[in-house]
Amino acid sequence: MASYGKILSLLRTSSAGYISGQEISNQLHVSRAAVWKQIKVLRELGFEVESKHSQGYRLLSSPDILLAAEIENELNCSLIGRSVVSFPVIDSTNVQARRLADEGALEGTVVVADQQSAGRGRLGRRWESPFGVNLYCSIILRPDIPVQQAPQLTFLSAVAVAETLNEICNLTAEVKWPNDILVNGAKISGLLNEMSAETEQIHFVILGVGINLNMAADQFPRELNYPVTSVLLATEEKVDRLLFLRTFLQRLDACYAELLTQGFAPVRRRWESLCNVINRQVDVDLGAEVLRGTVVGLDPEGALRLQLENGEIKKILAGDVRP
Ligand code: BTN
Repeated sequence: MASYGKILSLLRTSSAGYISGQEISNQLHVSRAAVWKQIKVLRELGFEVESKHSQGYRLLSSPDILLAAEIENELNCSLIGRSVVSFPVIDSTNVQARRLADEGALEGTVVVADQQSAGRGRLGRRWESPFGVNLYCSIILRPDIPVQQAPQLTFLSAVAVAETLNEICNLTAEVKWPNDILVNGAKISGLLNEMSAETEQIHFVILGVGINLNMAADQFPRELNYPVTSVLLATEEKVDRLLFLRTFLQRLDACYAELLTQGFAPVRRRWESLCNVINRQVDVDLGAEVLRGTVVGLDPEGALRLQLENGEIKKILAGDVRP
């Protein structure tokens, strides 16, 4: 059976414009009838595929949707993306990933949606998730690490998001402790990690990642009390969501392998090099009091290490850091 993801990839890369049914069937080792069936599926999904007698097929236009078959195709990962599930609309990719993880989904399963009807942010907030412009994805991990080290995974996804923004979009993204990614001081991405564990053992962790890619200014909710941005607003250019997602998953895959084989130190160093307040004086608002000190790094459990003016190092577990 030919996957329409593979056919799509051939249609996209066909330099002559047209590619014959015979050529597709030869390359994918499937029958001409199977090719025809999958072309029909593509058309039903909104792809405009012209077919011309004696020349073959040509892709005229594509809907801006993220399809599992296309994401998986040419994804160069060892673990993350072993299974990809995509939805045009879902309540929340984190909620769906949790459902799948409860049913025993493989480690590395990725859930992606073009829109979320009930996107979840931190502290019970809503995450605005309009159709077709951003990235909403959740990754199921089943790491064999102590429960107290699970926060390390937040830094892992923050590093992968920031490095992808810098590589693909030519931005200077920074990480803000504990789990925001900023561009020019405005939030461009948020992370929501959720865990299922017993005292000693992690069953699974869901890495929830929302990245504002092609969101226009009027698509952001008005009530936000912090500055926000998107790649489109920061660069005035649209980003290819599929390319971005593939690059992000590949980077995350490499970072995760590094974490499992070498421990937290390499990820911590990368996170610290992307952090705008390392070795700088900050105020940390703890709610009841505000501490002033110099940020000296992360500890193995993800706490921020703050050196107070008297030299004492304080571990910050929660709070708002202001430069
Ligand atoms: C934050 O408040 O900063 C965290 C936002 C996390 C949003 C992402 S979008 C994909 C995944 N599914 C959700 O419902 N939330 C996360």
